[in-house]
Amino acid sequence: MTNHPLRLGIFGVGRMGLVHLENLARLARDGEIDLVAIGDRFQPTLAEAGARLGQWGTPRAASEVLQFATPEAMADQCPLDACVVASRTEDHARDTLCLAGRGIRVLVEKPLAGSVAEAASFCAALGDACHDLVQIAFQRHYDNAALAAMRWVAGGRIGALQQSHHVLQDKNPTPANYQSSGITADMAIHLIFEAMAFHNFELPLSVQALRFMAPHYQDRAGEGANVVHAFCQWADGSLAHLWGSRINNTGYDNGFKLIGTAGRIDVGEFVGDFGPVTARLWTGTGDGEPRGVLREALTFDMTPTTPDQPDFHARYAAAYAGELDGFLRRVRDGRPGEPGLDIGWKTMLVAELAERSSREGGRQFRLVMADGSPPRSAADALTLVQDAGSSPAAPLSLR
Ligand SMILES: NC(=O)c1ccc[n+]([C@@H]2O[C@H](COP(=O)([O-])OP(=O)(O)OC[C@H]3O[C@@H](n4cnc5c(N)ncnc54)[C@H](O)[C@@H]3O)[C@@H](O)[C@H]2O)c1
Repeated sequence: MTNHPLRLGIFGVGRMGLVHLENLARLARDGEIDLVAIGDRFQPTLAEAGARLGQWGTPRAASEVLQFATPEAMADQCPLDACVVASRTEDHARDTLCLAGRGIRVLVEKPLAGSVAEAASFCAALGDACHDLVQIAFQRHYDNAALAAMRWVAGGRIGALQQSHHVLQDKNPTPANYQSSGITADMAIHLIFEAMAFHNFELPLSVQALRFMAPHYQDRAGEGANVVHAFCQWADGSLAHLWGSRINNTGYDNGFKLIGTAGRIDVGEFVGDFGPVTARLWTGTGDGEPRGVLREALTFDMTPTTPDQPDFHARYAAAYAGELDGFLRRVRDGRPGEPGLDIGWKTMLVAELAERSSREGGRQFRLVMADGSPPRSAADALTLVQDAGSSPAAPLSLR
């Protein structure tokens, strides 16, 4: 248990990092934390973040918040308790290892690493004793509408889950200079997280996917596709359909449907720019009771947004604030990050196999080890993707 205000840093202050930085500035003004350092490899991004910090205001003058071009310098020169990592995906593993390897708690943006091989190398280099230091920034874990659905499912309101359908559609292409490890690992991984959350984070038994490039689209991140449909099936036969797309010009679209033996849940119908997020519970199957009765309907406000906020801000601003609060509570109480590292490598495993399937005409991958057991570690995940034909990553080590 820590009583002093936690000393926080953030490394990577681009589009997503600024969302976290604004929340950190607010927490610093509220006396919850001491924001001591910001960092970025790309000097123009760091300068812009410093200027924004000056506008938002913190108890320290913006000029007293130290600025760093590498996570090593930040970790070596600042006595940090915790740090947010929102650098490019290709840098997540090495940045997180640099910080967590020195005992600093880390909230790292999704995905955990650039590949399963890199995630496995990261987990091995970090060592089991340090795994609890890391939390993966899957903000849906802290979204109020998703939490309502989670309560209904846990309370048995829809019976046994049979199928689910998850949608994420961006309204704009990826920004200029954005680095992506593929449409599935970059964006549909949110849907993988969401679907797995309703299966207690058990890995699916099989994964397959198809990808397409629909007109009219500027593929600035070189992903080679702007629509992906992935299917995950669990050992009990239940199925999830994931639909990721970068081409919904009319607005950010995000929602899911859960269909069970006794009811269904609908979260987040499309509401353009912007309306309330809905969560609806229906029960009754006509078996001695009326079919399809709306039992509960909740609405959650989106967050008013400004043109300089990213597209996903209105829908998830409250969840981003919630995940940071959750992270800090866990740091103060000495509890492991949630979602933790295991969910980091599991979601990456599903994403990488789905991406590979989509590039191989929908080939089905089974997530089963040679002895018939499910993968239990990032090292097992690496074995599976190597069997599927992926090459190993260069080993990571603490610098
Ligand atoms: N959880 C979410 O909802 C969510 C949303 C968006 C992004 N993300 C994740 O956050 C991470 C950062 O994404 P982002 O949207 O902030 O990306 P971004 O491109 O805005 O910034 C990421 C990094 O790239 C650097 N960068 C930008 N332009 C550069 C250039 N020309 N040369 C070199 N470096 C450059 C930035 O300085 C920054 O460190 C990614 O891993 C992404 O997956 C998560």
